[in-house]
Amino acid sequence: MSFSCEERCVLGIETSCDETGVALYSNQRGLIGHALHSQVALHARYGGVVPELASRDHVRRLLPLLDTVLDRAAMEAEAIDAIAYTQGPGLAGALLVGASFAHALAYALDVTALGIHHLEAHLLSPLMSPPAPAFPFVALLVSGGHSQLMRVSGLGDYALLGETLDDAAGEAFDKTAKLLGLGYPGGPALAKLASRGTPGRYRLPRPMLASGDLDMSFSGLKTAVVTIVRGTRLDPGAKADLAAEFEQAVAEVLTAKALAAVRAEAVTELVVAGGVGANTRLRELLAAAARERGISVRYPPLEFCTDNGAMVAFAGAMRLAAAAGSTACASRNTFNVRPRWDLTALHRLI
Ligand code: KG4
Ligand code: ZN
Repeated sequence: MSFSCEERCVLGIETSCDETGVALYSNQRGLIGHALHSQVALHARYGGVVPELASRDHVRRLLPLLDTVLDRAAMEAEAIDAIAYTQGPGLAGALLVGASFAHALAYALDVTALGIHHLEAHLLSPLMSPPAPAFPFVALLVSGGHSQLMRVSGLGDYALLGETLDDAAGEAFDKTAKLLGLGYPGGPALAKLASRGTPGRYRLPRPMLASGDLDMSFSGLKTAVVTIVRGTRLDPGAKADLAAEFEQAVAEVLTAKALAAVRAEAVTELVVAGGVGANTRLRELLAAAARERGISVRYPPLEFCTDNGAMVAFAGAMRLAAAAGSTACASRNTFNVRPRWDLTALHRLI
């Protein structure tokens, strides 16, 4: 990302689910700093995210996290030129905390507050570290709430190529982890167990592999795991093998669909974003398949695969740069959140 204009520091705020993220991104210096608070410990005893607890915790964490980021950067709040916050999709209450915080601070500092689409922030995050992928590329967005393949032709220019018809890939990881008696968050726990097992001892389906389109389905996999878990007494080794087979099945389907999308769109770069993008097995399969076909696969740094403030600050900086000189402007004194928000409804300008 290159800029010729004066320095602009964008504060990014992420509160869409169970992570409070705050970051500062400069259009000239790149990422200045970021801080994250994960609510894993808060929700663990309930086996999943409790929305009301999530909102209350965001309220408690935002200001201390902002102070931490400013202190580490030896900056004052007055150095902030704009505030980008996740406006949706996500939990309504959690989003409202971030939006209210962003707008109150923006009012106090007399700067712009800009609502960012959470999935846009994920899909632009690999552009944070050079060399940035060039438009157009295909993005595989795999998070707890979404599994989508998009053609990304430019900022705000997104075409949906395929998506899950039921559970998101991350959701399938979380639900299957629960079935195997693993804690929340399920994805990393299941991946850890899978690393001790071998796929193939149990045979799970590879849903929609031959569907001829780019849609996906993951809820059947979870049902197949239920059948095995109910019918058998699994010792720890068997559990690890089942986890490995589940992970392999998801990774194979995502790899096949992503590469089919790259082929159909005649592009050479695949960007993978969202929490499931942290999965090692998926990365291995994608790397092997991409190597064979001369395709490059790009990820954000591992710490920015899951939710964080840096990707929101970065998306805000990109949008502000794109809007510079246009008559479009972000809202100042009124705001709403968008718990459901279609990524393809976004436009190039603010
Ligand atoms: O992008 P993200 O942090 O939040 C959403 O926007 O949803 O993604 C969270 C999802 C969860 O479902 C989590 O279980 C999954 O990503 N996840 C993983 C791994 N790390 C996080 N799934 C598989 N393997 C992982 N290593
Ligand atoms: Zn996310």
